[in-house]
Amino acid sequence: MHGFGSSKVAATLRRTVVVNCGHAPRLPLATYQRQKGALPTYKPEFIAHVAERRAALRAELAAMLPADAPIVLEIGSGHGHFLARYAAEHPAKLCVGVDLIGERIVRAKKKATRAKLTHCHFVRAEARELIEALPAGVTFDEVWVLFPDPWPKKRHNKNRLLQPSFFEFIAGRTRAGARLYFRTDHAEYFQWVVAAMPRVHTWRVDPASVWPLEHETVFQARAPSYQSLIAIRTADPAKPVRTVLPPLPGPADPTSSA
Ligand SMILES: C[S@@+](CC[C@H](N)C(=O)[O-])C[C@H]1O[C@@H](n2cnc3c(N)ncnc32)[C@H](O)[C@@H]1O
Repeated sequence: MHGFGSSKVAATLRRTVVVNCGHAPRLPLATYQRQKGALPTYKPEFIAHVAERRAALRAELAAMLPADAPIVLEIGSGHGHFLARYAAEHPAKLCVGVDLIGERIVRAKKKATRAKLTHCHFVRAEARELIEALPAGVTFDEVWVLFPDPWPKKRHNKNRLLQPSFFEFIAGRTRAGARLYFRTDHAEYFQWVVAAMPRVHTWRVDPASVWPLEHETVFQARAPSYQSLIAIRTADPAKPVRTVLPPLPGPADPTSSA
């Protein structure tokens, strides 16, 4: 089992505003939480950097993703093994992989280019930032989350990607009948998601659904065993989740969709 051992991922997350969320960089969270109501104090250069990055992401996605096309999203696509294979088998589906780590995106892009998969894209971003930066009208038919970081320590569980707030959030970018495919070798994370699903009305677990493509990922190859879950988007309207990102204090974020 791989565990959450990647200091690279943790460091990249720390550098993003997402994981700095709610507390100022370098200020311990507990200290910040005591300062109820106070906005974090980000340096102006940091705010400008995040705003610039979000604007670039919006432009990249606007050029890449048409509204009303069937789109497949893989979150945490790593070196792109799975998505490149999936795209090769589904030439009519636009495929987008997102990963935090630049070097993994570079390798994934090379795979897609070598195989001439012009409908398969890889984007370096934090997944929630990418979803917030989508052009209006863009929705996903499939969302794949394969071997996400398990954040095994109890105090870190809140950092896990798949939790009710995330399901509600992504419901706003999926239509009824869309599928979410989740696979992990971390038994406790798996049970944690299963236990949370009854609270999520926009998705229902479907034990009868069939896993549509078996193609080993890097982490799957290392896993002695794993479990899979398929969730189907229900017809329930998505709750209006304006953002899961922390607000940027100070001057208005010019890339904000508010
Ligand atoms: C454990 S690896 C799994 C990679 C691949 N899916 C596999 O099965 O081999 C998790 C991947 O998710 C990426 N990741 C973690 N948190 C992320 C986030 N919030 N947004 C985008 N990518 C993320 C990491 O950089 C890493 O490549």
